Amino acid sequence: MTPILPEKMNKSFSKAQEMLKSAEDIKVYSHNDCDGISSGAILSSLLDRLDKEHEIEFISLDKLKDLKINNELTIFSDLGSGQSIDKISTSSSRILVLDHHPPLRSLNYNSKLSGRFLEINPLFYGIDGSYEISGGGMCYLLAKKFGFYNLSWIGVLSAVGDMQNTRTGKLEGINKSILQDATNHGLVDSAADLSIYGRQTRPLIIALSYFSDVTLPITNNKTEVILLLKKLGIDRRCDNRLRTLSDLTSDEKTRLFSELVKLLSREVPEKYIKYVPKLVTGDYYEFLNEEEKTPLRDASEFSTAVNACSRNKNPEVALDILKGDRVLAMDELERLTRKHRQYLAEKIRMIEDNELIVPLNNLQYFHGHGIKSEVVGTITGMVLSHGDWRKPIIGFSHVDNGEDLLKVSLRCSRLLAYDGIHFGHIMRKIASKVGGSGGGHAVACGAYIPSKNQDEFLKVFNSTLKGIIN
Ligand code: C5P
Ligand code: ZN
Repeated sequence: MTPILPEKMNKSFSKAQEMLKSAEDIKVYSHNDCDGISSGAILSSLLDRLDKEHEIEFISLDKLKDLKINNELTIFSDLGSGQSIDKISTSSSRILVLDHHPPLRSLNYNSKLSGRFLEINPLFYGIDGSYEISGGGMCYLLAKKFGFYNLSWIGVLSAVGDMQNTRTGKLEGINKSILQDATNHGLVDSAADLSIYGRQTRPLIIALSYFSDVTLPITNNKTEVILLLKKLGIDRRCDNRLRTLSDLTSDEKTRLFSELVKLLSREVPEKYIKYVPKLVTGDYYEFLNEEEKTPLRDASEFSTAVNACSRNKNPEVALDILKGDRVLAMDELERLTRKHRQYLAEKIRMIEDNELIVPLNNLQYFHGHGIKSEVVGTITGMVLSHGDWRKPIIGFSHVDNGEDLLKVSLRCSRLLAYDGIHFGHIMRKIASKVGGSGGGHAVACGAYIPSKNQDEFLKVFNSTLKGIIN
């Protein structure tokens, strides 16, 4: 059963539809991550189709307080609910917020403002904003009001980019109905599979060596992967190229599944064993209008490509690709992806060579001297397999805007989340305790804090986790 939108939420989307219809000069501010860029692409495609003049800008959360409202209608997507944007409204402004993050204001806040203010957030209607709908999903629901079902595939991408499928390995709630729109329109194919990143393009021997929620003999070790595949009778090559997960037969996948479950069960403490199959399986989402064996065919790989653009301060390249303006953008994407990969490899080597990961009792951290603050999150996730997977890892880097701010990123194994820990909530509390702000997902979250409070932040974090991590 896929859910029907609550009537009151549906009414709010009708109001948003009227706001769009009556505006001629529109500005969209969207978050500069995969979900936010997907949100922007849906809104921009929608506005193009309605023949509405508009400008779009992707920004980070710390920039919202400095904005000035200059347009007839300002739309905030995938951000806004957690920020005091009502403070920048004017008597003549019209503001529409389409967000899914925890809201600061209540449902009827608009009546207290002089300008027109409409905020639509799933949490106002009892819908979970972490697993049931993304920012892009909210934008798609508005596009759907106008009948543009063929933007649904971007709603699927945004949910995957926002890690909304990580609780169960599948899209849930409203995300599922967006997926249904996309499959009904022949845009997306989805089925259960092994959850090994890089289905379409990453050679299996590399994909398996990065399969690293838990450190296994095959982790970061291609020789061990080759031995494992040999033992299972799985060829690593076909037609003169290395095979990827999408090349495997279902028999081969079954053998690989059993082996991975066996390896993981040997490695994890007893209390986690019941979660092991969940680490190994998950639904895939394939975009049927993209060529097979390209990075845009699989939703997870597509979201990495979008992140390569945004984290290298080129979100517009991803926007062009999502909107279908690909002549120049594909070359640019290729260049950015290559540069991104090199940068990651270089920084990971730097962390390893200099042994920068410092263990504390209940967490581990590194200071990524010189690592760009936009990329420290990705790197933090990648070096978890070089540390102790039983503890979360925190990466710090300086924000280069003159203010003495530190960007904080945390990553951990999904096993800790399955066991009930939500680091996004912990991060939000501790960041605000030390004069910063943050939040995010159970297993991937971040914050900005004053640099001088790094030690205090670590001390509080480490002691908060006492008795929780073991
Ligand atoms: O930057 P990073 O990749 O580490 O961010 C991980 C998650 O934490 C993202 O979903 C992001 O939105 C969230 N985050 C947050 N507040 C911050 C920084 C990150 O909610 N100040
Ligand atoms: Zn989002």
